Amino acid sequence: MNEPKKIAVVGTGYVGLVTGVALSEIGHNVMCVDLDESKVESMKKGISPIYEPGLDELMLKNYTEGRLNFTTNHEEAFNGVEVIYIAVGTPEKKDGTADMKYINAVCVDIANNISNRVIVVTKSTVPVGTNEQIEELIKTNTNVPFNVVSNPEFLREGSAIYDTFNGDRIIIGSDSEEPANVIAEINKPFGLEIYKTNLRSAEMIKYASNAFLATKISFINEIANISSLLGANIEEVAAGMGFDKRIGSNFLNAGIGYGGSCFPKDTKALVQIAGGIDHNFNLLKAVIEVNNKQQLLLVEKAKAYYGSLKGKKVAMLGLAFKPNTDDMREAASIVTAEELILAGASIIAYDPIAMENAKEVLPEAVEYANTVEEALNGADTAFIMTEWEEIKNISFNVFKKHLIDGSIFDGRNCYSLEEARLSQLDYHSIGRPDVLRRKILV
Ligand code: UDX
Repeated sequence: MNEPKKIAVVGTGYVGLVTGVALSEIGHNVMCVDLDESKVESMKKGISPIYEPGLDELMLKNYTEGRLNFTTNHEEAFNGVEVIYIAVGTPEKKDGTADMKYINAVCVDIANNISNRVIVVTKSTVPVGTNEQIEELIKTNTNVPFNVVSNPEFLREGSAIYDTFNGDRIIIGSDSEEPANVIAEINKPFGLEIYKTNLRSAEMIKYASNAFLATKISFINEIANISSLLGANIEEVAAGMGFDKRIGSNFLNAGIGYGGSCFPKDTKALVQIAGGIDHNFNLLKAVIEVNNKQQLLLVEKAKAYYGSLKGKKVAMLGLAFKPNTDDMREAASIVTAEELILAGASIIAYDPIAMENAKEVLPEAVEYANTVEEALNGADTAFIMTEWEEIKNISFNVFKKHLIDGSIFDGRNCYSLEEARLSQLDYHSIGRPDVLRRKILV
């Protein structure tokens, strides 16, 4: 690596913290800035505010070795730095557009606190054209020279550290060559393909990638819904499609839709961005609509099976939007729980990691269990919402022992149909034929 750079990262949410830790791991000197004092104190002790496998260890290691530090003070953070990463949130506003208030505040802070030339790198996902606005905003508040570079992140929660060193590409968007080269040099030790574009293309690549992946998921979910009605098996269909390299076998897992901090927000934002230039992005609107319906599929299936869900006790297994994270944002468990309660059911929920976060967003009426067995014991039916290893490994004997009614609604196709048939339970999954006892018995 060339000379290590002195870098500040603003915002220690998911993107900022992983970025800061990763940059320090490859040798740079990184100061992470966050306004929240208790967060900063706990990060100094090696406790990260988010659950991400491998992050705590790497954070503590680089902090102890002196390459990584944390502060609440912008002045201290920006003092003498060469590069400032903006990694604050762009939450969704009521109309689906991205809220720029945190980004704008950081721009003013940067302008007020820099004293030497810096490169400002935008990591946050921002609408196309925002980096130019960032440039304008900083320029109107300072005379110190600076450049703006867009460097969107493509990390998946739950495997962010792995993805940092094994991702498919690093996108560097800039309208001038020199700052792009500096950022490319900074990122070189990650050993990933670097692709340089203009500012607006980089911004668009992020939205287009997430929108495309969301489209892939809604597409396979629709094929799953049709397959189950026509007697095809979505696992076989997806595997058969995936042999075609033009399609690819990744991201063809049918389930109860996508959730999380990116796909729901970015798809809606892109529809709004298109709308802003009078383009009706029908395809993406349909992707969102399919996903909204898909998140409620288990409730629909249970209603069809039971007739009424009134008085039924549902053990909800897995609450996070995907395994290996405690993130509950846009998780299918939220709308499913709301709908079950509306239908008169009660819920006892379990998640290995996300339970504390779940308590803040699930309806108050939801009860929580400390173990899978405790959740299942005395429940009528089980809803599998997240494919955690622990949940995939529950044996059918455990369901059989504890469930009153012996029916399972598996939103993540965790079990093979052969296993289900042997279990003597009623098993419903996504895009595959139901396995029903009475059918086996006749
Ligand atoms: C995503 C993108 O993958 C990442 O590149 C971007 O930077 C941020 O958004 P993330 O939201 O962390 O990452 O998780 P991801 O693994 O992509 O899953 C998103 C959602 O899609 C989850 O709810 C998951 O269950 C669902 N999903 C994913 C499917 O339903 N089927 C699949 O085949 C893949």
